[in-house]
Amino acid sequence: MCTLRRAASAAAALALALAPAVLAAERRETAGKAGDAALGTRRYSDYEKPQACAGCHVDIAREYEQAMMSQAFTHRWDEIEYFELALPHAEKIEKVKGVKAGCNGCHAPVTFLAGDIPPKRVAAGTRANEGVSCDLCHTIVDRGGDPSVNYNWISEPGKTKQGTRRDLKSPYHETRENPFLRTAEFCGTCHNEKSPWGVWVKSTQLEWREGPHGRAGIVCQDCHMPRAPGRSARMGETHPDVRQHLFHGAHDAGKLAGVAEVRVHPEAREVEPGDPIRVTAVVVNAKAGHKIPTGSAEERVLWLHVEAKDASGKVWPLRVDRKGFAGEEYTIADPKALAYQDLGDIQGIPGFRGLPRDGPVPAGDRIFRMPYFDEQGRMTIAQWNTASLGTDYRIAPLQAVTETFTWSPRDLPAGTVTVTATVWYSRLVSSVAEHLKVPAEEYAPVLVSSHTTTLTVLP
Ligand code: HEC
Ligand code: HEC
Ligand code: HEC
Ligand code: HEC
Ligand code: HEC
Repeated sequence: MCTLRRAASAAAALALALAPAVLAAERRETAGKAGDAALGTRRYSDYEKPQACAGCHVDIAREYEQAMMSQAFTHRWDEIEYFELALPHAEKIEKVKGVKAGCNGCHAPVTFLAGDIPPKRVAAGTRANEGVSCDLCHTIVDRGGDPSVNYNWISEPGKTKQGTRRDLKSPYHETRENPFLRTAEFCGTCHNEKSPWGVWVKSTQLEWREGPHGRAGIVCQDCHMPRAPGRSARMGETHPDVRQHLFHGAHDAGKLAGVAEVRVHPEAREVEPGDPIRVTAVVVNAKAGHKIPTGSAEERVLWLHVEAKDASGKVWPLRVDRKGFAGEEYTIADPKALAYQDLGDIQGIPGFRGLPRDGPVPAGDRIFRMPYFDEQGRMTIAQWNTASLGTDYRIAPLQAVTETFTWSPRDLPAGTVTVTATVWYSRLVSSVAEHLKVPAEEYAPVLVSSHTTTLTVLP
C-alpha cells in the first residue's frame, strides 16, 4: 500500500513537473501577441467575416447581430466619442496618444490587429464595422497575463476555431476545446480597462471576482449567454445547453428591469400634524453579477427618487438625508453643479464652463455612482482622461443600500400620505449627450423599479 501511494505521488509529482513544460510548449506554439504588442501583427485576410459563419450558425448569427458588441464600432455614440473626442485628443496630447489605436483594441479588434489606424468612419463601410466579430472571439487562445486588462487576449487566426466542446465535426473548420472561453477572465480582457494614468476605469470582471457570483463560479457567460437545448449549427449535433449569443446588457429593457429592486417604509404609520416624517428606502442589486452601474460607469447614471403625495393630492419631492461620507456631494443630485470641463480642452472651446453634472436627476435624489476625475480634479466622462477616481458609491452584487428621507412639512392635511420610491437608469448623462448630439434613445431615463407605501397624518 505504501509503495502504491509512493508510486501514485511520484506520478503526481511527475505530472506536476511536466505541466509547466507542456504549457510552455503550447505557449511557444502561439506566436500571437497580447495587448499593444499585437498592433499591426496580422492582416485583415487572416480573419473571416461574420457572414462566413452565419450560413451554418444561423441563430447565433441572428442573435449576435442584435448585440451591442457586433455594433461596437458602428453604434452612433461610439462613433462620436472616438472620432470627435478621443482621436483628436490623442493627436493633441502626448499622455493619451495611445488611445488612437487602443480604443480599437476592444471596439474594432481585427482592425487593431491589421494596424489600420485610425480606422475610416463608419460610412466608409470598412471591416472596422464588424466590431467584435465571431472570428476574433473564436480565435482567442489565451491571455497575455494576469489580470485581464486592456485587450490582452491572444488571437491565433486560422482553420481552428476555439470552442468549449470536444470531438465536434464541422465540414468547414477544425474545433478545439479551450477552457479559457468558459472563464470570466476571457471577457475581462476587454471588460477591464486601465487609463493612461494606470487607473482602473472599467473593472467588471474584478468586481465580479470579489462578489458572490465570482466566489460561486457563476460566470459572465451564465447570465449573458444563457444555455438552451438545441443545435448551434445546421448539420450540428443537438445539445442540452447551447450558448445563446444574446450578450444583453444596459441596452436591453428586460435586462435592466428590476436590476435594482426598491422597497420603502415609513418609521411611523401614524404621525401628529407637524411631526417630522421619516421614510427608509432599501435598494438591492438583485440581478447583476457585478456592481451597478459597471463598465462605462463614467457615463451611466443610476438614481433613487422618492416623493410623497399628501391627502390633498399635492406632490412633495423628498431630499435624501446626508450620511456624511467623504465625496458624498457627488452622490446627491444638484442641478447647479457643473462638470465635464475637460470637453472644452478636448474640443477646443475657449472659456468652456462645463455642463450640468447630473443631467436629468431631480435635486436631492441619491445617485449611485463612482465619479471619474481628470488631472485637474474635474469630473469627466472621458475614461481615457481619468487620473483618479472618487468614492465608489455603486451597489455591489446581492447587496442592499438603505437611504433615509426626513421631511418636516408644515400644514400637511390630515389623511393618507402615499410615498413612492422609484429607481431610474440613464446610459449617458443627458447634458453631455445633448452637447455632443447623441441620439435621444441613448440617454432617455429607464424606470428600473418602484414601490409605494402609506402613512396617516392624524387630524
Ligand atoms: C459549413 C458550415 C459551417 C460554417 C461555415 C462554420 N461553422 Fe462552425 N461549426 C459547424 C458545425 C456543424 C459545428 C459543430 C456543431 C456541433 O455539432 O455542436 C461547428 C462548431 C463550431 C464551434 C465549436 C463550438 C464548441 O462548442 O466547441 C465554433 C467555435 C465555431 N463553429 C465557430 C465558427 C466560426 C467563428 C465560423 C466562421 C468563421 C464558423 N464556425 C463557420 C459548421 C460551420
Ligand atoms: C448574475 C448574472 C450576471 C453575471 C454573472 C454577470 N452579469 Fe453582466 N449584467 C447582468 C445584468 C442583470 C445586467 C444589467 C444591469 C446593468 O446594465 O448594469 C448586466 C449588465 C452588464 C453590462 C452592461 C453594463 C452597463 O450598465 O453598461 C456589461 C458590460 C456586463 N454586464 C458584462 C458582464 C461581464 C463581463 C461579466 C463577468 C465578469 C458579467 N457581466 C457577469 C447580469 C450578470
Ligand atoms: C465576445 C466573444 C464572442 C463572440 C463575438 C462570438 N462568440 Fe461564439 N462563443 C463565445 C464563447 C465564450 C462561447 C463558449 C461559452 C461557454 O461554453 O462557456 C461561444 C460558443 C459558441 C458556439 C458553441 C455553442 C454551443 O454551446 O454549442 C458556437 C457555434 C459559436 N460560439 C459561434 C459563434 C458565431 C458564429 C459567432 C458570430 C456570429 C460568435 N460565436 C460570436 C464567445 C463569442
Ligand atoms: C474583444 C473585446 C471584447 C471581449 C472579448 C468581450 N467583450 Fe463584451 N463588449 C466589448 C465592447 C467594446 C463592448 C461595448 C459595445 C458598445 O460599443 O456598445 C462590449 C459590451 C458588452 C455588453 C453590453 C451590452 C449592452 O447591452 O450594453 C455585454 C453584456 C458584454 N459585452 C458581455 C460580454 C461577455 C459576457 C463576454 C465574454 C464571454 C465579453 N463581453 C467579451 C468588447 C468585448
Ligand atoms: C479594454 C477595452 C476597451 C477599450 C480600450 C475601450 N473601450 Fe469602450 N467600451 C468597452 C466595453 C467593454 C464597453 C461596454 C461597457 C459597458 O457597457 O458598461 C465600452 C463602452 C464604450 C462606450 C459606450 C457605449 C454605449 O453603448 O453606451 C463608448 C462610447 C466607448 N466605449 C468608446 C470608447 C473610446 C472612444 C475608447 C478609447 C478612448 C474606448 N471606448 C476604449 C471596452 C473598451
